[in-house]
Amino acid sequence: TDKPRVFSGIQPSAESLHIGNYIGAVNQWLGMQDSSDAIFCIVDLHAITVPQDPKALREATRALAALYLGAGIDPARSTMFVQSQVPAHAQLAWVLNGITGFGEASRMTQFKDKSARGGQEASSVGLFTYPILMASDILLYDTELVPVGDDQKQHVELARDLAERFNSRFGRTFVVPQPQIRTGAARVYDLQNPTAKMSKSAESAAGTVWMLDSDTALAKKIRSAVTDTGRDVRFDRDEKPGISNLLVIASALRGVPVAQLEDEYAGRGYGDFKKDVADLVVATLGPIRERTLEFQADPAEVDRILRTSAERAHGLATAKLAQVQERVGL
Ligand code: ADP
Ligand code: NA
Repeated sequence: TDKPRVFSGIQPSAESLHIGNYIGAVNQWLGMQDSSDAIFCIVDLHAITVPQDPKALREATRALAALYLGAGIDPARSTMFVQSQVPAHAQLAWVLNGITGFGEASRMTQFKDKSARGGQEASSVGLFTYPILMASDILLYDTELVPVGDDQKQHVELARDLAERFNSRFGRTFVVPQPQIRTGAARVYDLQNPTAKMSKSAESAAGTVWMLDSDTALAKKIRSAVTDTGRDVRFDRDEKPGISNLLVIASALRGVPVAQLEDEYAGRGYGDFKKDVADLVVATLGPIRERTLEFQADPAEVDRILRTSAERAHGLATAKLAQVQERVGL
């Protein structure tokens, strides 16, 4: 195939995804299935860099696969598999550990952020070397494009640096990947606290829109989103973070620019706007939820799809790993 290879992944770190993951990641992936040779991974090895409940992790892994399928990832056009089913990810990561500088790894800001809560002393070494495993995920597949949020840009740059370093020491082996950064406009914030990023680990139950929420819960959350006391439906992150957040959600789900929505709602109040956004969210996520629940009810089919895709990934990854091992003298 002459289509560019794309690689992206999500951790199975919660029972479900939120609308931020949908708008920032999965929805973008759907549009890449024809234009690229895409690999969408469920990165369970990354999920064990923080303490996990084994049963919950296993369930979240299968639930995430059902969600990918329910959202429209098509295994006939894209490869979707579970990272731990392809041992080459961990094997290449070890080789890359050997060419990564300690100082270089120490400069990764996500580790600093993620370890800030419990303290660095209490964090696992796995959380520290996480970006090296991520580089391995990307480099194993000759990935050209990595669609990520701006929070992951530094990690993709590390993958580029490691690819170039390996190539210059051992001969051309890896494709040097490009990040495809989604801009800040694609970032979704908590509905009750619209200056904090919506996150799987957020405490705010009412502010997080889960993809599998019932239609009633979806509508209620949108309609009770925090907004300011004004009346203009206008994008302004500083003065109107709540309305701006709903504009971003509506713009992404309808595929129209924010400016067009501002025009449509000129002279109309927040009530009309919120009702329409609620209807739009229900119309988008409702059918995804129904399809996801069908896949969740058929775990054997989900496992079959994952196995078939993992075989393809395994073939690609094993060939690359063999080349790497030969080059470094293993
Ligand atoms: P979370 O931060 O919710 O734990 P992940 O780190 O697993 O989610 O991210 C999975 C994907 O979803 C990444 O591509 C990330 O950039 C995207 N993403 C996460 N949160 C948001 C958000 N609030 N808005 C937009 N995209 C998001
Ligand atoms: Na994230």
